[in-house]
Amino acid sequence: MLKDAIKKILVTEDEIITKSRELGEILTTEYQGKNPLMVAILKGSVPFFAELTKRIDTHIEMDFMVVSSYHGGTSSSGEVKMIKDLDTSVEGRDIVIVEDIIDTGRTLLYLKELLLHRKANSVKIVTLVDKPEGRVVSIDADYVGFSLPNEFLVGFGLDYDENYRNLPYIGVLKEEIYQS
Ligand code: PRP
Ligand code: MN
Ligand code: MG
Repeated sequence: MLKDAIKKILVTEDEIITKSRELGEILTTEYQGKNPLMVAILKGSVPFFAELTKRIDTHIEMDFMVVSSYHGGTSSSGEVKMIKDLDTSVEGRDIVIVEDIIDTGRTLLYLKELLLHRKANSVKIVTLVDKPEGRVVSIDADYVGFSLPNEFLVGFGLDYDENYRNLPYIGVLKEEIYQS
């Protein structure tokens, strides 16, 4: 079973749902009448994007980008690759980037600069998890679900080598899984 690979649970499914409801209420107020473009950064943000957007009670649009910086290992390669771009023009739009985690910050710095360069009216970042100790570039999310220590986290979108994204909570992976 998947849970046999988990050393401890850091954030439960109930805590994620409660936090998503809180963030959804904040975004509902902030983006009333603005028809923001909510951008999910695939693949990690998929479970949180689904949880968060259904808590927003005003018009939004959705679009998707695929970027990748981790190529199978446990640490960032330092290079962000765009694999699929948006379908929607961002010029003049209010953009909300939705991420599962901000670690080194490279992915979000790249994305925020790209969208501002394309003349978005505003770009805000919502992330389920922040790992502040991991930062190597200067960028912060506007809204953070949970600030967590620098451990190898999986679940609710977070993967190890493409696995464990489907765990309904966030946990720490046992060392023996990635050391073997
Ligand atoms: C992970 C995660 C974030 C990014 C955060 O994505 O989902 O997008 O890395 O790391 P950073 O702050 O150090 O840039 P990944 O590249 O592993 O792709 P994935 O979402 O498909 O797992
Ligand atoms: Mn990602
Ligand atoms: Mg990944």
